[in-house]
Amino acid sequence: MDILLLKTLVLVSCFAGLFYYHPGLLFNWERAVYKKPNFIVILADDIGWGDLGANWDLKKGTPNLDKIAQEGMRFVDFHSAASTCSPSRASLLTGRLGLRNGVTHNFAVTSVAGLPLNETILAEVLKEAGYLTAMIGKWHLGHHGPFHPSFRGFDFYFGIPYSPDMGCTDAPGYNLPPCPACPRCSATASNPQTNCYPEVALPLFENLAIVQQPVNLTTLAAKYTEKIIHFIHYASQKGLPFFLYVALAHMHVPLVLSEPPWNQSCQDPYGTYLKEMDALVGQIKDAVDSTAKEDTFLWFTGDNGPWSEKCDYAGSVGPYTGMWQRKKGGSSAKQTTWEGGHRVPTVAYWPGKIPANVTSPVMLRPAEVVNVRTGR
Ligand SMILES: *[C@@H]1O[C@H](CO)[C@@H](O)[C@H](O)[C@H]1NC(C)=O
Ligand SMILES: *[C@@H]1O[C@H](CO)[C@@H](O)[C@H](O)[C@H]1NC(C)=O
Repeated sequence: MDILLLKTLVLVSCFAGLFYYHPGLLFNWERAVYKKPNFIVILADDIGWGDLGANWDLKKGTPNLDKIAQEGMRFVDFHSAASTCSPSRASLLTGRLGLRNGVTHNFAVTSVAGLPLNETILAEVLKEAGYLTAMIGKWHLGHHGPFHPSFRGFDFYFGIPYSPDMGCTDAPGYNLPPCPACPRCSATASNPQTNCYPEVALPLFENLAIVQQPVNLTTLAAKYTEKIIHFIHYASQKGLPFFLYVALAHMHVPLVLSEPPWNQSCQDPYGTYLKEMDALVGQIKDAVDSTAKEDTFLWFTGDNGPWSEKCDYAGSVGPYTGMWQRKKGGSSAKQTTWEGGHRVPTVAYWPGKIPANVTSPVMLRPAEVVNVRTGR
């Protein structure tokens, strides 16, 4: 029990530590422990540092996130713990780097295992502490048997088991090279592109059940939003503290827009998709503001930098272009340890606790904070 309590404190400090270590800011630690604040972590997929209007984007395509930055704190030197999906997510949830938690590569559709079962994740710790826990979105930490999120501390799960391009779907969406939609008849299945997976249609899970296969990507964001809002209201009505982990399908390819135009007539699919994501984040904030505004810590960040191979369908690294290593075939984006690969847009919001309109230059990443506190 003492060990569990220790782990609770260590993992919760994954968040709280952000403020605890920020010079000039006082975090009321005791009050946070006893009052049990709600935690909402929104993790965008493949978003670029430069995609956040407040950071860089000249188009200013993220009005809701910019508003959160104005009413909260923006971290300009925040780094994901890895520059690819699974390792970054494993670190976010365990507070431990890949070399320690065992997740150093992405899981595949064919992977039989996942995040090692001996690792404790934030949801388990908070559930043990009386929290209602939910995950909505992309898991990508193992999808068979005990590796499923329903066995990793989440009371409720709704989402896809891995990336939206790791299976065929109804609407192929914008991708480079494009993948075909799921074949209507399996006898005609062929694999024109090596990076497409026509054999396995992308499933959508609600807890342990597959509720849709292939996923209709056009309606996925709306479904996520509905589940998120419902959960926030449900937890508030119950009067229970909650942990909500939202791992968005945005901004990973394929880009599938919820509103017309859906097809090639769209001039700027990435920008349009970004606005859609921003609106979704705005709806989450509105739900918090109307229910548990003073008691909720909302944190938005990214899993890694943009997937530059996708060209126009990838985000912006802002000024962290790393032009000099491109001569040797490199880039500074996802899958690299150059800055644009892991420096991610990050904002935190908690009225009354986090001062408004502050930009923090402190260099941070989720796992680092925990390791500082534990000395590991
Ligand atoms: C889980 O087991 C792996 C492999 O033995 C080890 O590397 C890792 O440190 C263990 N994790 C914990 C939390 O003990
Ligand atoms: C997916 O959802 C969209 C929007 O509701 C709808 O127009 C489309 O027919 C759906 N696709 C399938 C295969 O049901």
